[in-house]
Amino acid sequence: MKAARRGDIAPFYVMEVMKAAASREAAGGDVLHLEVGQPMTPAPSGVRRAAAAALAGDRLGYTSALGVDRLRERIARHYDEAYGLHVPPDRVAVTVGASGGFVLAMLAAFDVGDRIGITEPGYAAYRNIIEALGLEPVGIRVGPDTRYVLTPDLIDAAAPLDGLVVASPSNPTGATHTPGELLRVAGFCDRAGIRLVSDEIYHGITYTRPAPTAAALSPSAIVVQSFSKYYSMTGWRLGWLVAPADLMGAIERLAQNLFISPPTVSQLAAVAAFDCGEELDANVARYARSRDVLISGLAAAGIERIAPPDGAFYVWADVSHLTDDSRELTARWLEEIGVAATPGIDFDPAQGHRFVRFSYSESTADVAEAVRRIGEWVRASD
Ligand SMILES: Cc1ncc(COP(=O)(O)O)c(C=O)c1O
Repeated sequence: MKAARRGDIAPFYVMEVMKAAASREAAGGDVLHLEVGQPMTPAPSGVRRAAAAALAGDRLGYTSALGVDRLRERIARHYDEAYGLHVPPDRVAVTVGASGGFVLAMLAAFDVGDRIGITEPGYAAYRNIIEALGLEPVGIRVGPDTRYVLTPDLIDAAAPLDGLVVASPSNPTGATHTPGELLRVAGFCDRAGIRLVSDEIYHGITYTRPAPTAAALSPSAIVVQSFSKYYSMTGWRLGWLVAPADLMGAIERLAQNLFISPPTVSQLAAVAAFDCGEELDANVARYARSRDVLISGLAAAGIERIAPPDGAFYVWADVSHLTDDSRELTARWLEEIGVAATPGIDFDPAQGHRFVRFSYSESTADVAEAVRRIGEWVRASD
């Protein structure tokens, strides 16, 4: 019987780590979780209160496909508050997470067979979604020579491209474009007729300077955003797009047919998220402490070749002096010292066997203990 080739995409190896970690915990073992890619905190209290009120008082039926007006207006106001940028609410589409937004952006902007540039290393789901939609992913390697960020030269070398996905701050590297760097990428794309899709899901979680939004730098860029990370709402499945006016009709029709509408209770609650800055910034302050603990602990363990950890809650580390098989290394760490981390192959099929992604979204104490154990392990295996 016919089965589609589009489902024939790569698995997520981190799931193997998570499964092994869960069975170790079920057997009574301890696990320090540096593999997870989500905040350990619940949604901020204002959001939970708004959700309770919505559950008690609202019918929670379908909404309009692009989201409730109140939330679209609040998101638009957020651009004014956070970036000093005027975004009309009718250019905002509320989506089922960044994941749902990414699918809508790809379908609205590209035709089957179009070539879409993605970074290597980069977020694995991009490659997989692009392939599943019948588009062609074109890997663009980023590394220490450009601080792990894209440049016009790197994009040009991948020509011809119809689209380009940039994530800044990046998962898995944390590297973040400066305003000048993103402006050069956006300007190059505009001149070359390449549609820029800018994933800004880790905005708000930055340590040196705020990340610039592509919405301010290019009239044709599509911005993908989410309540999952800074807003600490992964399971609420809510995100948004800021898209050029000429794509909004396509996005609305696609959203109507694919999703009907984003989750209603999440939408009504999320309006409050923008007024929970104090609580959310306290999470970022904790990430900053954990980041320092992780970086200095890794350095003490001799793991020093890392991507610039400007934002998000990840460190992307070159472990080639320890192994040529990061999948085996992370399996051993889990088994021998109870530390779960993600092998790089999830993010970089070609060179990920030499890299590990460490997440520091869990507690600072756990990060400190994990990195102490890694140090001991490295010294013992010398
Ligand atoms: C770079 C990046 N984009 C998108 C997503 C998907 O997020 P969401 O929960 O909003 O669908 C993730 C999740 O880890 C991510 O790291």
